[in-house]
Amino acid sequence: MPFPLVAPSLLAADFSHLADEIRRVESAGVDWLHLDIMDGHFVDNISFGPALVAAVRKQTQLPLDVHLMIEHPDHYLPRFLEAGANAITVHIEQEAKHDVASTLRAINAANCRAGLSLNPSTPFEAVEPFLSELDLLLIMTVHPGFGGQSFRPEMMGKVRRARDWRNARNASLDIEVDGGINADTAQIALENGANILVAGTSIFRATDYRHAVSRLRGF
Ligand code: DX5
Ligand code: ZN
Repeated sequence: MPFPLVAPSLLAADFSHLADEIRRVESAGVDWLHLDIMDGHFVDNISFGPALVAAVRKQTQLPLDVHLMIEHPDHYLPRFLEAGANAITVHIEQEAKHDVASTLRAINAANCRAGLSLNPSTPFEAVEPFLSELDLLLIMTVHPGFGGQSFRPEMMGKVRRARDWRNARNASLDIEVDGGINADTAQIALENGANILVAGTSIFRATDYRHAVSRLRGF
């Protein structure tokens, strides 16, 4: 797995030219595509659903990293699996209204990478009991709902705790950060132990996508 792994968030892409945007980020050397699914209930925004994931699936061989910022993710899980997700991340907060352990088991049973995410206001302790069930932990560095927000450096304490947990067990847990990730904040997150960078605005608002991706990688 490349280090760091760069996953552009299609939330920030030009939806009217999505196939071209996918070509452009592929040429820019990204590793995954990150798809932010929002239902207008768990977060105060609505983005897109399984049909768009299926359309993206037809356009690329890149792994699709699906981030479910929705209520009842367990109910919708089969549709995202059918659509071709390679990784599915659900939220730990009560407002997501699902049995976290059961949902993670269902994702794992489908041979899909299982992720768990926590919002800035959610303490690390909330996800600790589930870490051994995860392929990835997604630490939100903004409050979810919208791209273009500012990185919250105080979230690095959670990144360090995840890193220490992983290193103490020599575990293969991937640590992903999402929100306000640019050339500068990416290096902060990597220094603290993250290895997967989700970036929307810093890639899709750049004039040169390849240069933007290289800068995220620290070049
Ligand atoms: C939650 C979304 C955003 C998006 C990336 O709101 O998950 O964090 O992926 O946003 P930016 O544009 O900050 O990279
Ligand atoms: Zn996301």
